[in-house]
Amino acid sequence: MTQTAAVLLADVACHAKYVPSRYIRPPSSRPNIADVDASGSAIIPLVDLRDLSGPGRAAVVQAIGSACRGHGFFQVANHGIPDDVITSMLRVAREFFRQPESERLKMYSDDPSRTTRLSTSFNTRTEEVASWRDFLRLHCFPLEDYVHEWPANPPAFREAVAEYAMNARRLALSLLGAISESLGLETDWLAAALGKQAQHMAVNYYPPCPEPELTYGLPGHKDPNAITLLLQDGVSGLQILGQNGRWIAVDPVPGNLVLSNDRYKSVIHRAVVNNSTERISVPTFYCPSPEAVIKPAPALVDEEHPAAYREFTYGEYYDKFWDRGLQRESCLDMFSESPICDPI
Ligand code: OGA
Ligand code: NI
Repeated sequence: MTQTAAVLLADVACHAKYVPSRYIRPPSSRPNIADVDASGSAIIPLVDLRDLSGPGRAAVVQAIGSACRGHGFFQVANHGIPDDVITSMLRVAREFFRQPESERLKMYSDDPSRTTRLSTSFNTRTEEVASWRDFLRLHCFPLEDYVHEWPANPPAFREAVAEYAMNARRLALSLLGAISESLGLETDWLAAALGKQAQHMAVNYYPPCPEPELTYGLPGHKDPNAITLLLQDGVSGLQILGQNGRWIAVDPVPGNLVLSNDRYKSVIHRAVVNNSTERISVPTFYCPSPEAVIKPAPALVDEEHPAAYREFTYGEYYDKFWDRGLQRESCLDMFSESPICDPI
């Protein structure tokens, strides 16, 4: 009798006593969870956005600028997304992944160019080692172009996700405004540079893992977009690489930037898994539209600061990101004007 192998990790993980070999990292690239910088979280900036409109704006902009120059990562308080919107988003995410395999598989595709799809790991077509994650990816802007593609079940899914996505967009644009100002640019400079703009969402599902020290939820990487807002349930797992080269565990909302001619760097981060509790995270990736040309703001280029990267379209960059299977932490170096490593 033939038995079909499970396609999604959730349906492997629920029976697994050991990590199957395709998820096991070579010893030199395992998470080393015991070596996380326990005091590191104290240095992650927390920016209170309450004063962003009003006379306190300059101070908030300055705090955001310094966070971007430092880690490229910060948490925000008073971000304006209502608690019930967040709770509903996480509830429908959990309900989606608790559905029977047959219902989840209706959304399955391993084609990264699909605008709505459920998949597993990162890119099963190109990667050598798999990651301990299933994920649903959705395009969210303009909403009316995509909502009809989204999962019809659970029944509350579309409404709850649309509400969260609209709120996340508002926050992303408000942060991009503050970040533009922090670079000495017009408030709407970064938003305009994104062209028609795009917004993608991942709903990441990390099942409990019997041997979390052998694998990752996601290995170290930089996100390939202008800014990421990360919503997490209460289970920790996100870590960022600190300036001292040690990993720092965080409970966060990160910001993550390109377009600044290297003045602001994108944070390297990863997700580790644990052996007791499933974890859900919902990153919103605010991005340029595929045809937008990525190049530095003219005001940030002069003789002393020549353009660090050749111009490219976001579509070109995005395709490279998915092809590479997170083998290197950043794919921006492939566009560098002064390559330090061999292009692959
Ligand atoms: C991602 C990511 C981190 C997390 O999806 O790009 O970095 O904590 N997720 O799930
Ligand atoms: Ni990421």
